[in-house]
Amino acid sequence: MRKTRLAVFASGSGSNYEAIVSACCDGRIDAEVVLLVCDKPGAKVLERAKRYGTESFAFNPKDYASREAYETMLATMLDERRVDYICLAGYMRIVGKVLLSRYEQRIVNIHPSLLPAFKGAHAIQDAVDYGVKIFGVTTHFVDETLDGGRIIDQGAIVYEGNDIDELTNLIHNIEHNLYVKTINKLINKKY
Ligand code: GAR
Repeated sequence: MRKTRLAVFASGSGSNYEAIVSACCDGRIDAEVVLLVCDKPGAKVLERAKRYGTESFAFNPKDYASREAYETMLATMLDERRVDYICLAGYMRIVGKVLLSRYEQRIVNIHPSLLPAFKGAHAIQDAVDYGVKIFGVTTHFVDETLDGGRIIDQGAIVYEGNDIDELTNLIHNIEHNLYVKTINKLINKKY
């Protein structure tokens, strides 16, 4: 039977990419990562992709006239590879109409807060600054707004310490398990 084909979009370190690809490799996810797309040439995620033998494509959005222009180029690559789902894993960019219309209900994101609280690029620090005690992670379908779209899964943790690195590690661990759970829901259409 044909395996589900995933594309992962990332901008940074890629620990969530690695969580997804390793779960595909050891059978916890019945799918394969066929493409890693990165909008930051030089990002660490590209080294990880090389290690796992995932085809990667890095581009600089500034080299394109518009979001529509680079998303049209990406859509062609995704079509050629018959991608079923796009998993955003620290992809720090709004997804536009070109990809959203082609991949309706087939683009998901992970975010390190209990959405709809603390959207944006500094969710963990923002939650700490606010005095939060229950931290969390959310996976959700993607719409055209920042960290917006219907929630699929959430995980939470009580943390009352004051070590942001420790907290960040705890949250990343939750993310890595939660994304595997969410992708399995997508594949089995149980959401
Ligand atoms: C993750 O914590 C992810 O939830 C977050 O970026 C980090 C990427 O880490 N995404 C967002 O904040 C989206 N708004 P990684 O590169 O190690 O996977």
